[in-house]
Amino acid sequence: MRNIITVVAIVLAFGLSGVALAADGGEIFKSKCSACHGKDAGGTPGMAPKLAGTDFIKGDAGPIKATIINGRAGDAKKYKELPLAMPKLGISDADADALVKYLKSL
Ligand code: HEC
Repeated sequence: MRNIITVVAIVLAFGLSGVALAADGGEIFKSKCSACHGKDAGGTPGMAPKLAGTDFIKGDAGPIKATIINGRAGDAKKYKELPLAMPKLGISDADADALVKYLKSL
């Protein structure tokens, strides 16, 4: 039981640190995106596309930022073979900028 509490405390602290370090795209990615997109944005087969080094990420920041803020579901989905949609996660404008910067740096 104690171990579970410790793990929960660590997970919470980790999640909150992602909020506290709002400008650190890498930390935000780790806490809010890597569960689906994989560590270092390498993608997760059958779940979420690779982001690191793709044409979409190398392209205009605008559409990347819009996808991060609004998500992408339904008819807008690009990867029809993936059952999941990109969720709208309540990412702020500033955090989206930090995430775009981080993704472009990979
Ligand atoms: C619940 C899983 C999930 C989470 C969490 C998630 N994504 Fe996604 N993401 C997806 C899926 C699935 C797609 C593909 C949607 C589609 O079919 O167009 C996607 C698409 C994207 C795309 C567009 C990629 C392209 O090639 O068009 C970007 C950029 C992106 N996600 C960034 C993020 C960022 C940044 C976060 C964290 C703030 C995040 N995602 C969190 C599942 C997730």
